[in-house]
Amino acid sequence: MKSIRIMSHAIFVIFILSLGACCCGQVELDVSPMEKTEQEALYSTIQGFVGNSWNGSDLYPDPCGWTPIQGVSCDLFNGFWYVTVLNIGPIHDNSLVCARNVEFRPQLFELKHLKSLFFFNCFQSQKTFPITIPSENWKKLANTLESLEFRSNPGLIGTIPSSFGVLKNLQSLVILENSLTGEIPPQFGNLIKLKRLVLAENYFIGTIPDIFGGMSELLIFDLSRNLLSGTLPLTLGSLTSALKLDISHNLLQGNVLNEFANLKNLTLLDLRDNKFSGGLALSFQEMYSLEQMVLSNNPLGGDMRTLKWENLQNLVILELSNIGLVGEIPESISELKRLRFLGLNDNNLTGNLSPKLETLPCLNALYLSGNNLTGEVKFSNEFYGKMGRRFGAWNNPNLCYQVGVISTSHVPYGVKPCQKELCY
Ligand SMILES: *[C@@H]1O[C@H](CO)[C@@H](O)[C@H](O)[C@H]1NC(C)=O
Ligand SMILES: *[C@@H]1O[C@H](CO)[C@@H](O)[C@H](O)[C@H]1NC(C)=O
Ligand SMILES: *[C@@H]1O[C@H](CO)[C@@H](O)[C@H](O)[C@H]1NC(C)=O
Ligand SMILES: *[C@@H]1O[C@H](CO)[C@@H](O)[C@H](O)[C@H]1NC(C)=O
Repeated sequence: MKSIRIMSHAIFVIFILSLGACCCGQVELDVSPMEKTEQEALYSTIQGFVGNSWNGSDLYPDPCGWTPIQGVSCDLFNGFWYVTVLNIGPIHDNSLVCARNVEFRPQLFELKHLKSLFFFNCFQSQKTFPITIPSENWKKLANTLESLEFRSNPGLIGTIPSSFGVLKNLQSLVILENSLTGEIPPQFGNLIKLKRLVLAENYFIGTIPDIFGGMSELLIFDLSRNLLSGTLPLTLGSLTSALKLDISHNLLQGNVLNEFANLKNLTLLDLRDNKFSGGLALSFQEMYSLEQMVLSNNPLGGDMRTLKWENLQNLVILELSNIGLVGEIPESISELKRLRFLGLNDNNLTGNLSPKLETLPCLNALYLSGNNLTGEVKFSNEFYGKMGRRFGAWNNPNLCYQVGVISTSHVPYGVKPCQKELCY
């Protein structure tokens, strides 16, 4: 009983004290120390993006203290607060939201300790208020900036400034889903601390520059959904740490690099929707960590039997549709025990289908339509039942299923019944 009384007394005292603290908070003494120039630079920078009606000193007199701004983080350096993170755009309900007509103010580059700068859904209107990334002043952020991201800004046009090449401490550069065009600046070759380089879903043109020799720390490489053309630069083979390499949906051509054999840690390789040719490169069978290999829609050509598929024991997704494959489906495919998705449709594959494919324990999608496979499909009722609509074998004119063995509810779509020889 006594201890409870003491407790409640203590809580009351704390309550009174905190009331006092609240009141004192209103006076200047408690304001977190911040250089005037830093504070003004922050207000002006934000005002440039959210509009002149936003009055920072009114709304947020202590931006690194008791009036925090959503999307702004600060850190102490030598007893003073500095902005380290600035996120502009509707990430949370109460985030800073951009005006229609925005501007990059030079004060942005006066934020002395800025580590991370992120624009999301900010530059909205390509027609009425297009905006370009300023090319000046990035050098001022070179020592501090580690992460720079422009994501989902349809109103962001023009080219990537080559001066991004001075940002030597960048670990993450993400320029995703904007309306930028022009070539990838060769100056990016200086960014050797990059772990993530994402330039996807813009209108970048030209060839991929041969600048990746120093990027041994890069983990994520994504140039997908642009208009990049030409052949692959050899230094892509230097990305020895890479986990994901996605260059899908471009106009790239030529052979797949032999140097890809160096990418022993790669888990995702996506080359789909390009113009690659020259057959199945032997380097494919050297990328032992691959979990997803997606090559579909390329005039690649080649025979599946040239590769030792059994090397790729981690494969979960193997998507090889519409790449001009010829020859038979090798038995070694049925050794890929983790395989869940196998897409071989719309090729020129011939020969019989091995019933061993059924033994793949995780397989739940198998697409074989649009080939020239022949003979009886010898999968069981259980297999068809398990696969459902994720089994496709139509448009193989010489393929048939076993009448009497397969129940009518499991007859594979578009496959005809085998005729007994005697019936002719
Ligand atoms: C913000 O408001 C203060 C007074 O409330 C005023 O002195 C100041 O000029 C305003 N700043 C801007 C940028 O409008
Ligand atoms: C590949 O991954 C392993 C295990 O995660 C790691 O120890 C190794 O350093 C990585 N190799 C490269 C070249 O990054
Ligand atoms: C398959 O081969 C035939 C004849 O050689 C050719 O006309 C056709 O375009 C090829 N189909 C595919 C999908 O490669
Ligand atoms: C399919 O293969 C058969 C022989 O198995 C051949 O006669 C036929 O021409 C091939 N069809 C195509 C379109 O390649």
